[in-house]
Amino acid sequence: MRKVAIAGTGSYLPKKVLSNYDLEKMVDTTNEWIITRTGISERHIASDSEATSDLCAEAARRALRSAGVAPSDVGMIIVATITPDMFFPSTACLTQQAIGAQAAFCMDVSAACSGFIYAMETARLHVGSGRVENALVIGGETLSRVTDWTDRSTCVLFGDGAGAVVLKPAARGGGILGCSMGSDGRLWDLLKIPAGGSRMPASHETVDARLHTIKMEGREVFKHAVKCMTDACVAALRNAGLRKEDIAWIIPHQANQRIISAIAERLEFPMEKVYVNLNRVGNMSGASVPVALDELVAAGGVCRGDRLLFVAFGGGFTWGATVVEWE
Ligand code: ACO
Repeated sequence: MRKVAIAGTGSYLPKKVLSNYDLEKMVDTTNEWIITRTGISERHIASDSEATSDLCAEAARRALRSAGVAPSDVGMIIVATITPDMFFPSTACLTQQAIGAQAAFCMDVSAACSGFIYAMETARLHVGSGRVENALVIGGETLSRVTDWTDRSTCVLFGDGAGAVVLKPAARGGGILGCSMGSDGRLWDLLKIPAGGSRMPASHETVDARLHTIKMEGREVFKHAVKCMTDACVAALRNAGLRKEDIAWIIPHQANQRIISAIAERLEFPMEKVYVNLNRVGNMSGASVPVALDELVAAGGVCRGDRLLFVAFGGGFTWGATVVEWE
């Protein structure tokens, strides 16, 4: 297998910003509750004319520009999303036509908030094996479309956005050094969108009961997220043959400040080296990690040789962590 590196990053956030103060006017909540319980102050919301593939296409264009790769040279597009434009065709195919990457094969990955980790590892195997030279890996979500805006326990959490990376064969011996992924389908019921699939097809009753929106047992999810993300970090570091002291930045899935702090504490890892942007963007599921990565890179926060640890947890349950050495 060839080693595989991140050659460029990009992201896109919709223009509209919804603040905690806006939410105070919509449900029985306060800015103070949301900040103390989650760390979130505001989130971006897609416009009526924007679907997930529109966000993905813009993030992809920016990532391709930063990598110096033409759309026509992309061999594979993989989109991590739980809010596809439609059941099928895949959001990856719709993104392909939007950016004109006609040589690519395209598919979506459904692993909720861990989707980007799963998608990146899948693309790494294709680039590593020599099948593909340039892979576009995108995490994109319009969670605002599957949020119950009358449920204060969930509607304060989510935001819309997309982030992308271009994977290429590593040029300098760095790149992706190790990965660990896991799932536990026994716990599927704790975080889900119940209706709209083959189990409970869309009907007037399901719409009236708001069953096409995210349902979550917050406390249970919280507990499992802390344990699984901590364990995933340890396993990915072991696979990479590294210690936590070798890591310049942890870039975690941005679900809740308290989850992120608990992981750092358990790992005995300094919070100053954990990148957090959830205060401005909320939980963007599969888009969280690539958007945070692109922000950090754009701010000049990542140098050649830095080792980054991505980690995520989501519905399924699914979890995963990846160690990358920056080229
Ligand atoms: N404003 C004010 N009060 C609220 C709000 C709100 N927005 N939401 C809930 N409350 C109330 C509850 O009704 C409850 O009141 P009660 O004690 O009178 O019953 C109280 O606050 C505490 O509620 P909890 O749900 O216990 O609050 P908790 O501290 O657990 O925080 C939260 C809730 C933020 C959802 C937290 O559990 C969490 O972050 N969970 C994990 C989410 C996550 O990691 N998701 C990742 C995957 S997401 C994906 O895959 C799409």
